[in-house]
Amino acid sequence: MTIEQSVLFSPYTLGKINLANRVVMAPMTRSRAIGNVPNDLMTQYYADRAGAGLIITEGVAPSANGLGYSRIPGCFTDEQASGWKNIADAVHAKSGKIFMQIMHTGRVAHPHNMPEGAKVVAPSPIAADGTMWTDTHQMQAHPVPEEIPSAEIPALIAEYAHSAKLAVAAGLDGIEIHAANGYLPMQFLSPSSNQRTDQYGGTPENRNRFVLELAAALVTAIGADKVGIRLSPFNSYNGLTPDATEEAQYLMLTEGLSSLGLVYLHLVTYAMPKDMIPKMRKAFNGTLILNAGYTADRASSDIESNACDLVSFGNPFISNPDLVHRMKSGIELTPPDPATFFTPGAEGYNTYPAHQ
Ligand SMILES: Cc1cc2nc3c(=O)[nH]c(=O)nc-3n(C[C@H](O)[C@H](O)[C@H](O)COP(=O)(O)O)c2cc1C
Repeated sequence: MTIEQSVLFSPYTLGKINLANRVVMAPMTRSRAIGNVPNDLMTQYYADRAGAGLIITEGVAPSANGLGYSRIPGCFTDEQASGWKNIADAVHAKSGKIFMQIMHTGRVAHPHNMPEGAKVVAPSPIAADGTMWTDTHQMQAHPVPEEIPSAEIPALIAEYAHSAKLAVAAGLDGIEIHAANGYLPMQFLSPSSNQRTDQYGGTPENRNRFVLELAAALVTAIGADKVGIRLSPFNSYNGLTPDATEEAQYLMLTEGLSSLGLVYLHLVTYAMPKDMIPKMRKAFNGTLILNAGYTADRASSDIESNACDLVSFGNPFISNPDLVHRMKSGIELTPPDPATFFTPGAEGYNTYPAHQ
């Protein structure tokens, strides 16, 4: 069979929406949202990539406290929601589908990147290792975050629900909870960043509680068919230390997410033990998306063997807006330039042409 006939390019039903193919654009922060508001540059970027079966947007903050990086977008004001509406409309006009990744950066943040009055918050007052970019003071150490009081957790969850409702009202097809890569929800999951003594810390059950309550609230807010989640078990990114009990904890978490009826589970598999992926698939009733380092051939064979339903591609989408067409036709891919991943402006963003 040629790649052109691969199952990767066959349609798929995700909840109540129909995807034209099984190729997902992975969420990627690109830092083009000056003032944290989606703009025309971003509308163009996403519209150019509407050939993906599903686009998952870059990480989008549900509140000012979640805006830890320079120039990342939010979705909590009317102005931001109206920017997202333009993006959703442009993607839909080209028959694409789009979920918004809701990303609260938690302790992976710096006050220099955040609006006046915003706070760096996390499950426990433990700074992430290392430094991060700020536009005004260049590289800075991560600060010690403020511990989120137990009594404020319902308000934090309500921020996500508000943001998800705005996203759906703006026309997005759903949202993805970013519970991977060391951001706020994963900061609750990991014992190295969560040393709480209340019901959100201590045991694996307690460390899973925030993510499960968050997922349940989002299901209530917009419906389970519109809520997906991203997890990255064993990932040490952003200063987390994987723990011996991690596999058991994530399987328990996944069973909980499955009973809530979430539409998909999106796994970043880099650091996972190989035999954990089928266990996670078994624990989850919905759609499974796998990610990290995929080629079209490997994606086809994983879908063919039922290891997953969909595969997401990150880097290749940066520099190949027409990735699906190129993969299907066996056209060579253009490599992306990491120097322009997070710089402002069109260069390295909207300057990669489709194949002629
Ligand atoms: C520039 C860039 C920005 C990224 N931003 C995010 C993000 O906002 N949220 C997220 O979950 N992952 C983010 N990722 C990770 C990607 O979604 C994906 O997991 C990673 O690139 C591996 O997939 P790939 O090998 O197909 O590139 C980012 C990756 C890159 C290269």
